[in-house]
Amino acid sequence: MLSAQFFVAASVLTTVVLGLPSTPLRARIVSEQDITRSYDYVVVGGGTAGLTVADRLTENPRKTVLVIESGQLDEREDAFLVPHSIGTAPPKYFYNLTSIPQSAGENRTFFVQAGCVVGGGSAVNGMFFDRGSAGDYNLWRDLGNPGWGWDDLLPYFKKSETFHPPDSATVEDFGVTYNMSVRGTSGPIHASYPPFLYPAVKNFQAAFKEFGTHVPYDGASGDALGAFWTPNSLDPTDMIRSYARIAHYDRIASRPNLHLLTGHSVTKVLFHGVTATGVEFTPFGGSRRMTVDAKSEVILAAGAPHTPQILQLSGVGPENLLNKLHIPIVANLPGVGQNFQDHPASFTDGIFVNDLNPSPSNNTNATWIEEQRILYETEKKGVFTVSASNSAAFIPLHQLTNRTNELVSAYASQDPALQFPAGTDATIIAGWRAQRDAVLSAIRSGVVASTEYAGGSAAGMLVVLEKPLSRGSINVNTTNPLASPVIDYGFLKNNVDVDIMVEGIKAWRKLLSMPSFQELGAQPTFPPNSITTDEDLRELVVQTSFPSISHPSGTASMLPRNLGGVVGPNLIVYGVSKLSVVDASIIPIIPGTHLSSTVYAIAEKAADLIKARNA
Ligand SMILES: Cc1cc2nc3c(=O)[nH]c(=O)nc-3n(C[C@H](O)[C@H](O)[C@H](O)COP(=O)(O)OP(=O)(O)OC[C@H]3O[C@@H](n4cnc5c(N)ncnc54)[C@H](O)[C@@H]3O)c2cc1C
Ligand SMILES: *[C@@H]1O[C@H](CO)[C@@H](O)[C@H](O)[C@H]1NC(C)=O
Ligand SMILES: *[C@@H]1O[C@H](CO)[C@@H](O)[C@H](O)[C@H]1NC(C)=O
Ligand SMILES: *[C@@H]1O[C@H](CO)[C@@H](O)[C@H](O)[C@H]1NC(C)=O
Ligand SMILES: *[C@@H]1O[C@H](CO)[C@@H](O)[C@H](O)[C@H]1NC(C)=O
Ligand SMILES: *[C@@H]1O[C@H](CO)[C@@H](O)[C@H](O)[C@H]1NC(C)=O
Ligand SMILES: *[C@@H]1O[C@H](CO)[C@@H](O)[C@H](O)[C@H]1NC(C)=O
Ligand SMILES: *[C@@H]1O[C@H](CO)[C@@H](O)[C@H](O)[C@H]1NC(C)=O
Repeated sequence: MLSAQFFVAASVLTTVVLGLPSTPLRARIVSEQDITRSYDYVVVGGGTAGLTVADRLTENPRKTVLVIESGQLDEREDAFLVPHSIGTAPPKYFYNLTSIPQSAGENRTFFVQAGCVVGGGSAVNGMFFDRGSAGDYNLWRDLGNPGWGWDDLLPYFKKSETFHPPDSATVEDFGVTYNMSVRGTSGPIHASYPPFLYPAVKNFQAAFKEFGTHVPYDGASGDALGAFWTPNSLDPTDMIRSYARIAHYDRIASRPNLHLLTGHSVTKVLFHGVTATGVEFTPFGGSRRMTVDAKSEVILAAGAPHTPQILQLSGVGPENLLNKLHIPIVANLPGVGQNFQDHPASFTDGIFVNDLNPSPSNNTNATWIEEQRILYETEKKGVFTVSASNSAAFIPLHQLTNRTNELVSAYASQDPALQFPAGTDATIIAGWRAQRDAVLSAIRSGVVASTEYAGGSAAGMLVVLEKPLSRGSINVNTTNPLASPVIDYGFLKNNVDVDIMVEGIKAWRKLLSMPSFQELGAQPTFPPNSITTDEDLRELVVQTSFPSISHPSGTASMLPRNLGGVVGPNLIVYGVSKLSVVDASIIPIIPGTHLSSTVYAIAEKAADLIKARNA
């Protein structure tokens, strides 16, 4: 995703209320009194993955599912539904999570964005809807996870979506290409193009070609290397956000075997010995504790920041941490909360002296915006259908810089033990070494991207680091389940990550000098051209880049246990039974893509695994 700050910076906030028709709540929302003593499955977190899994499991009318979600249903505010209003959801729909000071980033702290609402991240994200490259997912498979490579996941990417091709005018005007054989045609999430694209996006695409970048025919085909077009999670019928709440809850809310309890937080998983038997929960922010039983499985889907918190509070986590907090140990699993990854990014800015018409700068024109608002209300067209951009470029290291060998060797020569504080469990260190070696081999063979350029209609873009080898952690420091966990991004801890970011910024400057951008009079303003040496650019990256574009992952990694893993390829937590994880926490190495479509695919596959073992 792109962060909300980015969108607020990139587009003008609009506070208009569009008066969208409110649909009656068909939802099977339950109150505490309606909850039955036990369900076949209890799903913790009604976000992107949780609602997807709950939907699939309740296809069987004989299986009962309870979803417990901290947040509430949104009230169909523009912030959720209108693409132009992304990034404007009020604070009550977010957790108040802040990282600890990031020592390699000048001790800055960072707000951690995570949706606290039915639909989770899918309700508040930037609606950019792409997939990673085959190489990204094959890394997962090759690290000891049979069944999780690109070929294995493609059917689930397809199952999750209905792709709507762009209209012929867009295809002709912009040269958008797509391949229906890799797209889904009947899944719950709608993927489509807005009927409005800024004309400068054509120059973005052309400039990358001039830069020498490969242009995939369809970035969703496993070939996500280069500059390509990508749809949004957008329902083209009424031009509103397509997200887990509508697609995996409203759509099926008449099923009597699905219960959703909102406004309640799970405080821990309950065990009999090492068998998960249910969960304890509390009214959001409250102190009363209640319990409910799960006959077949407790399914964790609280998102990468909270899933490890719940595991640790339940006694599943690093032994020394649990002992320090006097939490009785159910299973010593050093990997819980470790291997934390996100996509760090540097902000760049610039101007087009001869900008095209219209451009994002017209969003400051109140008259124009009012016209566009009416156009959206009446015809579902215009700039209000636009969320994140529809083009991005994902660049393998050798296309970015001639320093690939040098940078790869620098990573390769690092001592794995020195990447972590003294006393770190040996399996975590072994896991980092295995990941490092696999990532470097993928970089050498050019099957993964090292940086992304997100944007497309302006000279300023985010330069995003796609395969950082810095690792952070999310650990509890209190037994109070309502307190925030301690979030350490481990931001830029690995100095080669900084070097690649510097190469990414240099490549951005070169990109602006390509004929198709020069046609627009492209000029960089930040970083200014006066900063030239690698050393000065490194300093700038350390001072101004940030650790996240809201893609937290890895905190309950799917890896072998001797490599610091928390779940195996069946997604069951090691050392216990009847407990699984199905959200972004299981991602062992962050893929070169925005995460939502990947999380839907993971959840679709998870549902099949869970169904099969409980048939
Ligand atoms: C601001 C933002 C912008 C983004 N932009 C994009 C984008 O443009 N494109 C893209 O592809 N991806 C984007 N992403 C990333 C993507 O949306 C997430 O990776 C994905 O939604 C994560 O899904 P999840 O199921 O792992 O977690 P979530 O969807 O976050 O679900 C976790 C749920 O669990 C609930 N929960 C947490 N703790 C508890 C508890 N103790 N008890 C009960 N419930 C609990 C939460 O309230 C939440 O609803 C963005 C994310 C954010 C936050
Ligand atoms: C975060 O803080 C805001 C107020 O600043 C509050 O409205 C909101 O409920 C808080 N979020 C959570 C999840 O506690
Ligand atoms: C960051 O904080 C640490 C510990 O307080 C301190 O030693 C260090 O000098 C600080 N670094 C910067 C750049 O301020
Ligand atoms: C479309 O995808 C199919 C399946 O991967 C592939 O065989 C075909 O070559 C692709 N077509 C184009 C034009 O890329
Ligand atoms: C957008 O702004 C530019 C610069 O002010 C102006 O020339 C152009 O006419 C505007 N376009 C629209 C559609 O208002
Ligand atoms: C603002 O928008 C209106 C309506 O499209 C247009 O007529 C006007 O020229 C625009 N003003 C500027 C400064 O671009
Ligand atoms: C690599 O070096 C060659 C020869 O000096 C040069 O033409 C090319 O542009 C360089 N490539 C990059 C990505 O810097
Ligand atoms: C836990 O860590 C946070 C910082 O993330 C700190 O503010 C808080 O005081 C710590 N709590 C305890 C009990 O140590």
